[in-house]
Amino acid sequence: MANKVHVLLCVLVTTLLSCDVVVVVWGQTFACDVGKSPAVAGYGFCDKSLGVEARVKDLVGRLTLQEKIGNLVNSAVDVSRLGIPKYEWWSEALHGVSNVGPGTRFSNVIPGATSFPMPILTAASFNTSLFEVIGRVVSTEARAMYNVGLAGLTYWSPNINIFRDPRWGRGLETPGEDPVLTSKYAAGYVKGLQQTDGGDPNKLKVAACCKHYTAYDVDNWKGIQRYTFNAVVTKQDMEDTFQPPFKSCVIDGNVASVMCSYNKVNGKPTCADPDLLKGVVRGEWKLNGYIVSDCDSVEVLYKDQHYTKTPEEAAAISILAGLDLNCGRFLGQYTEGAVKQGLIDEASINNAVTNNFATLMRLGFFDGDPRKQPYGNLGPKDVCTQENQELAREAARQGIVLLKNSPASLPLNAKAIKSLAVIGPNANATRVMIGNYEGIPCKYISPLQGLTAFAPTSYAAGCLDVRCPNPVLDDAKKIAASADATVIVVGASLAIEAESLDRVNILLPGQQQLLVSEVANASKGPVILVIMSGGGMDVSFAKNNNKITSILWVGYPGEAGGAAIADVIFGFHNPKLNHVSVSRSLLIAHNFHANDDTSLTPMDGFLI
Ligand SMILES: *[C@@H]1O[C@H](CO)[C@@H](O)[C@H](O)[C@H]1NC(C)=O
Ligand SMILES: *[C@@H]1O[C@H](CO)[C@@H](O)[C@H](O)[C@H]1NC(C)=O
Ligand SMILES: *[C@@H]1O[C@H](CO)[C@@H](O)[C@H](O)[C@H]1NC(C)=O
Repeated sequence: MANKVHVLLCVLVTTLLSCDVVVVVWGQTFACDVGKSPAVAGYGFCDKSLGVEARVKDLVGRLTLQEKIGNLVNSAVDVSRLGIPKYEWWSEALHGVSNVGPGTRFSNVIPGATSFPMPILTAASFNTSLFEVIGRVVSTEARAMYNVGLAGLTYWSPNINIFRDPRWGRGLETPGEDPVLTSKYAAGYVKGLQQTDGGDPNKLKVAACCKHYTAYDVDNWKGIQRYTFNAVVTKQDMEDTFQPPFKSCVIDGNVASVMCSYNKVNGKPTCADPDLLKGVVRGEWKLNGYIVSDCDSVEVLYKDQHYTKTPEEAAAISILAGLDLNCGRFLGQYTEGAVKQGLIDEASINNAVTNNFATLMRLGFFDGDPRKQPYGNLGPKDVCTQENQELAREAARQGIVLLKNSPASLPLNAKAIKSLAVIGPNANATRVMIGNYEGIPCKYISPLQGLTAFAPTSYAAGCLDVRCPNPVLDDAKKIAASADATVIVVGASLAIEAESLDRVNILLPGQQQLLVSEVANASKGPVILVIMSGGGMDVSFAKNNNKITSILWVGYPGEAGGAAIADVIFGFHNPKLNHVSVSRSLLIAHNFHANDDTSLTPMDGFLI
């Protein structure tokens, strides 16, 4: 696509410039390219000596209504007559540069990027400087990928919804259930992604986005869908629970974007609520950036929620509420009709595109060749560096939580362990460790590989995968019976908890509990149970089993997760204990009756 645009520009400017002189394979498309079209030098929006506001005003003043409307959607149209290429707004970087959004991909030039633990684990480190350092590495890798035409500049990360219900399928993406920790994570990660070395708040290294605003934590639970549910929230719960992370993201993190969610809050779709958007985000918190919809949420509020009678009304009501950009095509299709019907005036559309273009301007998109700008030297050599991969391992170590160690069998002494049985559906996990909104990692170190580096191992999965309908016990019991120690790695995967997939209970999936109990009973040495999951698991059976000496919770630990698990088990890192994650995995079991899903009541306060 990049090449196509350039060919087009080239044809347009043949009268001004001879195109056959040099064939340059441009890595990236950008506006205000004097080399391509000398005419751009005369445009105010290309004049770097002017402020962002003046430049954007100049730009918007040159655009037709149709060109403006074409810049209200994520796949924004080009304005080739002004030398502006098209731009894809949707990229993701939840825990590393991801190829989930259409704005970013990998190729043989950069085949992978560092894949950090899922935020649920990183946040459990309670280390705010770690959140920021990870953000910085991710934005460096993103810029390197941008420079070679593989990535965008606008990332719809992080997800800072409060993980109030442990069964929510997207809890793994979040920093957890605590508003204070989530607020700190939001501000730290966003600063790491966005802040430039010069510290100029009007410049962005990449643009982050805090999502999904607000009171969203159900995807698909017993017929309740994220697209249509109405979160009934008291004023106090809003202020105490759901809003603080977003407030901190905007005020402390100075984030460049907020994404409104699908759900309604107290009867109003968030993307069409002027109090939530114009009133709070832009008014009270003073967002300097753009408000984007979740993908198709404007369409959803018309089609699925029937909040408006016509699509044009939906377009008008959301822009008037403060929405600037639509992930999807809806605003591209219906905004012109809304103007014609008098539902919205052009000034409101000018406001919206002004916020979008101002963000791109702060990113340097209108400053000519990115390779001549700060970060222009970054390239393939800066992605998946040894140092970055080591940080992925370090982040996992810092997040891992020790839930039980009695009698104290951890750390294992590598010199004394002559044989280690490694068992369980996640014991040789690779892909499972990187969760969702993932990229292609630099490489994987599975738990089995990590442990094998310290002691001779034998391996039996016991279950084909975490769904584990029919465990195969014989081999697992046999190797546990003769090994000096046993490590059992169980838990979940995207087959259990994911976008559009909430759990209905908090037990270990399938027959994993049987596998663990049988293997523990057969084991000769101490048994270390490792739980890989985002949501809490009721493991009271293991807490009460004396043969299970240690329990670790490891979240989804990222590409180097297996190495980090081994570091903790063999004592090269002292894990945290007794903090919030404990409640996720153990105390939950005391507060809820996990077998009876109707008695779980954390939905209260926001579900009707
Ligand atoms: C926080 O993380 C950073 C980066 O890995 C590390 O240098 C620092 O020691 C950590 N702080 C604590 C308190 O663990
Ligand atoms: C562990 O997983 C890796 C990567 O998928 C695979 O190459 C290896 O054969 C597996 N090990 C065992 C013992 O199954
Ligand atoms: C534990 O194993 C022994 C045999 O070693 C068996 O007799 C006993 O029933 C097992 N207990 C459980 C709870 O599986």
